[in-house]
Amino acid sequence: MAATLNESELIALVSALADGAWHSGEKLAAHAGVTRAALAKRVAKLSAWGLQVEARVGLGYRLSQPIELLDAKKIRRALPDLARDRLRRVDVIAITDSTNQRLAEADASADPQALLAEFQSAGRGRHGREWVSPFGANVYLSLAWAFPHWPAQITALPLAIGVACARALRAQGVNDVALKWPNDLIVEGRKLGGILIEQRGEGGGACRAIVGVGVNVSMQDASNITQPWTSVAAVLGKTPARNAIAAEVIAQLTLALDQFAERGFASFATEWDRLDLTRDKLVRVEAGKESYEGVARGLDRNGALRIETPAGVRHALAGDVSLRVKT
Ligand code: BTN
Repeated sequence: MAATLNESELIALVSALADGAWHSGEKLAAHAGVTRAALAKRVAKLSAWGLQVEARVGLGYRLSQPIELLDAKKIRRALPDLARDRLRRVDVIAITDSTNQRLAEADASADPQALLAEFQSAGRGRHGREWVSPFGANVYLSLAWAFPHWPAQITALPLAIGVACARALRAQGVNDVALKWPNDLIVEGRKLGGILIEQRGEGGGACRAIVGVGVNVSMQDASNITQPWTSVAAVLGKTPARNAIAAEVIAQLTLALDQFAERGFASFATEWDRLDLTRDKLVRVEAGKESYEGVARGLDRNGALRIETPAGVRHALAGDVSLRVKT
């Protein structure tokens, strides 16, 4: 009977290959205590996770690019005191369906808590789209946050989180991040990352938000992504440290969520305006079956995008439209 592939054995193989150097199949198999045929099956599974493993006679196996595995302790240590004290947990899991889904099902008494994964089999994007999540290439993280009272401007929370992510990326040397309403992270017209916030609760009562952030860090090939995309590695021209990026994003999210609870969206509005990619541009809004065009004129106080159309100014609310900047 064929043995099922054990996740921790596969992770051990990734760790052995993480440096990107050649490793002989014989040694890898001996180290894992399996036959060469069983090793080949494990390698095939890594490819299914999106890892590019090269095999060469006489040399063995290597990853096409080295990977820095995520390390919860390292990430925690890199957090500023304020964020470290605020967060109850920072966890890394290797494989999951979606970090947003995991935290939605996690014990809320441990909030605020952060969860990162190396690979998501069902990563979720906005509008029900898939978020392509190959193993070890990017940052996939979620932060669960409890607001004791439902924030009045909850519709603007995604915009504040966009500002926080732009701050984090700037701190990591990615200077030209812009925001495409509501919160796509864009560099030179290409998507660098995205944000998906899922919240539960009742108006007037408490609210639990799961803030999900995906940042492309060193992804090289993603033939199933249809829109133009980029990565931190492509922008900086070198392979960045994934743990450092993860820590910076977690730190900025933590600070921004406190800022949002205390001072509302108004305290982010000027910064958001500076990052606004659509300002005074002709845009197309698609809201369900309806679509219309107009000139984007910035935000109203709830974070809705004001669109000047021939029929008057319309307010597009976060979460129910997608938008294409027309050239
Ligand atoms: C978008 O469509 O732009 C939003 C993408 C959000 C992706 C992140 S990755 C971590 C978290 N878990 C998910 O399943 N989705 C979010």
